[in-house]
Amino acid sequence: MKLLITGGAGFIGSNFIHYWLEHHPEDQIVNLDVLTYAGNPANLADVANNPNYTFVKGDIRDAEIANKLVKAADIVVHFAAESHNDRAVLDPGIFVETNINGTFKLLEAARQNNKRFHHISTDEVFGHLPLDEGTFTEETPYAPRSAYSASKAASDHLVRAFNITYGLPVTITNCSNNYGPYQHPEKFISRMITNLIDGENIKIYGDGKYVRDWLHVQDHCRAIDLVLTSGKIGETYLVGGMTEDINNLTVAHFILQLMNLKEDRIEFVKDRLGHDRRYAVDWTKINKDLGWEPEHSFSKWLKETVEWYKNNESWWRPLKDEAEATYKKTGQ
Ligand code: NAD
Ligand code: TYD
Repeated sequence: MKLLITGGAGFIGSNFIHYWLEHHPEDQIVNLDVLTYAGNPANLADVANNPNYTFVKGDIRDAEIANKLVKAADIVVHFAAESHNDRAVLDPGIFVETNINGTFKLLEAARQNNKRFHHISTDEVFGHLPLDEGTFTEETPYAPRSAYSASKAASDHLVRAFNITYGLPVTITNCSNNYGPYQHPEKFISRMITNLIDGENIKIYGDGKYVRDWLHVQDHCRAIDLVLTSGKIGETYLVGGMTEDINNLTVAHFILQLMNLKEDRIEFVKDRLGHDRRYAVDWTKINKDLGWEPEHSFSKWLKETVEWYKNNESWWRPLKDEAEATYKKTGQ
């Protein structure tokens, strides 16, 4: 099988390419990525010479290149996006451009060539939940609250519309917050670890009582694999982690413990505009239909993640200034 991966030089896409080459060594992968600040060829340096892997630098919004690559593939796995909420607060336009218009261009290419299309999306399309009450399911109405989640919601709607209108064979996964190796140091867990290594503080937005449903990126990759190989066309599957309502402050305390540091390294900063309070995913459907469940416990794999950042400073060091530049503008 030949897979066209978009955004494969980013965090989840590069983990997925590593995962797929290991678990499906007979398959071929083409990675289409324009290499924004978040796209990093270093994530894939170890597979660059693999005969089953090809990198193409290009934009998903470029209809010509999208059409050519989609035509040559059996399946499109669409990761490419602008993915960071704090950037969406500062510059929402590029989120509309990439996440909505970019997905539309790829869908058009998939329609012209009648190719299977798998769309990677987020639980944030459902908005947010009150503390300690409720979970998102596949039936939860869409209610996005940021330019990031609104643009992802729009892209999900387009994907479903192409299935209904044109019969395009699509599947969608909406997952919770991922963590693990190769995550840009702009995101919460990777920012905390790299700040602490640098002798800086952990920056906690608002009261810190915001809850995320942490999913190890390898568990996410396995869920996508199952949906690609056994998922039902036209269906959406929610993918979540095994942390039960751990708030940001608690995650910060875990990391301080793992790094043998004290609480005085926690600094409360200005809250994010429109900050979503809580996400929690009910992953019963993918469990019942495809037998998936998360296997990476948060305590063990948070430790592994801390170790990975400690051992791979040469990977994240060139990205750190770029990450902190956003926070200089937001005051966080
Ligand atoms: P990322 O920001 O690390 O990587 C995005 C990649 O897309 C980069 O390599 C970038 O260069 C590429 N890209 C951006 N615009 C492009 C364009 N116009 N053409 C081609 N390539 C382009 O993102 P990530 O964290 O790996 O997220 C991947 C996907 O998973 C996204 O669709 C995101 O919405 C979704 N998602 C992420 C999380 C998470 O916790 N990181 C959670 C839920 C869903
Ligand atoms: P983030 O990793 O940006 O993911 P998302 O916005 O998609 O959930 O943030 C995760 C949570 O951590 C969110 O509640 C915002 C918070 N946060 C901080 O408190 N401090 C930080 O330095 C960052 C980057 C995030």
